[in-house]
Amino acid sequence: MTVTVIDHPLIQHKLSILRDKATNVRDFRALCTEISLLMAFEAMRNLPLEDAQIETPLAVAKVQRLAGKKLALVGILRAGLVMVDGILSLVPSARVGHIGLYRDPQTLKPVEYYKKLPSDVADRDVFVLDPMLATGGSAVAAIDILKEHGAKSIKLLCIIGAPEGIDVVHAHHPEVDIILAARDARLNEKGYILPGLGDAGDRIYGTR
Ligand code: PRP
Ligand code: URA
Repeated sequence: MTVTVIDHPLIQHKLSILRDKATNVRDFRALCTEISLLMAFEAMRNLPLEDAQIETPLAVAKVQRLAGKKLALVGILRAGLVMVDGILSLVPSARVGHIGLYRDPQTLKPVEYYKKLPSDVADRDVFVLDPMLATGGSAVAAIDILKEHGAKSIKLLCIIGAPEGIDVVHAHHPEVDIILAARDARLNEKGYILPGLGDAGDRIYGTR
């Protein structure tokens, strides 16, 4: 497993605004989408290319294009939805799956309430999307579900990750690469990431 923290200045600048408790719902949502798009740009750097020839208006050109590798974006509800939106603007033909999980506030264990995946998810490169990797329970549960459906190539893309969550994902799914915009210090006693950005779902949707 690799853990990559993308330190691109644009991402780090946007993340600084995202963390700010004064950032309003509209800006928070837009920033999550923008950061996800920029992260995916980096995360997809190694997608395979194939050689091809096309005719420009003037001549034949040797070009490279994506080797038709099929992608699936799987957002963990609710907060992962905004990440799907951002990344779809880069790869509009990717298939999209949804896994509904919420953390039980007492146990912090994930509770599954929804699941809809592309029928051919087993044949696709899957990006699991969730802004927050805290205890790691939600990410592990989502990856478990994907593996039950045959997925073999899985990467986890989160905006902020805690060391505790990274270790848990590593222990359960050692082959899954994790891509983050920030690795934060630790969890607090309620399982929230410090310094973090608070409750991502609530800040995206204006709930509490
Ligand atoms: C948040 C977040 C992750 C999860 C991370 O969702 O979006 O899914 O917590 O925590 P974990 O790593 O400890 O599992 P939440 O459960 O608050 O649900 P929501 O998106 O519906 O608000
Ligand atoms: N979920 C969130 O939305 N934020 C945290 O800090 C931890 C879990």
